Amino acid sequence: MDVKNILLTGAGGKIGRALLPELVRAGYAVRALEYTDGLHVERLKNVEVVVGDLRDPELAPSLIEDIDVVIHMANVKENKQLFLDANVKGTFFLLDACKQAGHVRQFIQAGSDARAGIYYYPQPIPIDENHRHSGYPGYYPLSKVLEEVMCEQYQIMYQTPITILRFSWVHDEDDILAHVTLQEPNLGVPVWRDWATTAEQHAYFQQGKNAVACLVHADGSAGQRQIVGIRDVVQSVMLAIGNPTAIGQAFNVSGPAPFAYDVLADYVARQLDLPVVRFEVGEFHDFCIDMSKSRSVLGFQPQWDIFRIVDDAVRFRKEGKSRSTCLYPG
Ligand SMILES: NC(=O)c1ccc[n+]([C@@H]2O[C@H](COP(=O)([O-])OP(=O)(O)OC[C@H]3O[C@@H](n4cnc5c(N)ncnc54)[C@H](O)[C@@H]3O)[C@@H](O)[C@H]2O)c1
Repeated sequence: MDVKNILLTGAGGKIGRALLPELVRAGYAVRALEYTDGLHVERLKNVEVVVGDLRDPELAPSLIEDIDVVIHMANVKENKQLFLDANVKGTFFLLDACKQAGHVRQFIQAGSDARAGIYYYPQPIPIDENHRHSGYPGYYPLSKVLEEVMCEQYQIMYQTPITILRFSWVHDEDDILAHVTLQEPNLGVPVWRDWATTAEQHAYFQQGKNAVACLVHADGSAGQRQIVGIRDVVQSVMLAIGNPTAIGQAFNVSGPAPFAYDVLADYVARQLDLPVVRFEVGEFHDFCIDMSKSRSVLGFQPQWDIFRIVDDAVRFRKEGKSRSTCLYPG
């Protein structure tokens, strides 16, 4: 598929800002959508920045003019007031503009493993692409399911050329340390403070002492989950662009393997010279993501396992870098 011009929505967001320079490096001309929530889009050569709001029905037709591939990353997260208008209607306006115009050759939708419920439900087998939609409670998972169903229907009803990339929890900067240590900022689920029951656990928070959390089940075994590094996410999008085999398909995009919290906690504790504190989290179910389809059909080769994600995060802190603005701590 010959691809020259790409529309990137959400270009100022966590994934968008990592993807944009790669698109430019690959030689694409990019129209990048910036929204007025303070997440600015980097001004780069061959990037036309358009400021706009996807809730505006007039915007989508002008955004897709001359565009070969749409990469739709714009989204609000756990936001009851905005998610229907920004995510559901916003995606609908884009899909419908593509249907009307007829020239867009691929519509890449940012999906999420949230649509499969991940840790919220028992997951006796790896989550593959055929796993039914079963988002965990919340407006964000609901919105990820609705967006995907709309995409699937546009593919069925109008042959709109959809590719859905279902990202796991994306890790950049020092996200993994923000998640797994007790110190602020808190990132992701579970929030350790909410699961403190023993005097020892409470003491860490009361005295503002840092430690590394290890998530365990009632039987003492460590929780297991799968996340993805930002560079691997970018790799998956680059592989999907213009790939005719990816049309009409959904792909899981996760790290090379699941990890166990005891292994993560011990590794981080050694690097940061901190103690490990165990937290029993009743609501957490282990899950892992079946990556065979994206490996064999997209040629995706995730490189960032949990140790490499931690190594990058430790380096980020040692270099004294500050975290990018994040509108949703998860
Ligand atoms: N970050 C993750 O861990 C993760 C995991 C799975 C899936 N995803 C999905 O990937 C996509 C990108 O995620 P992210 O983490 O980069 O999100 P982000 O919150 O960092 O960025 C979202 C972007 O959407 C823009 N936006 C919000 N409302 C808008 C509107 N009304 N009009 C135009 N733009 C608007 C924001 O300005 C921002 O640039 C989303 O669809 C998200 O659901 C992300």
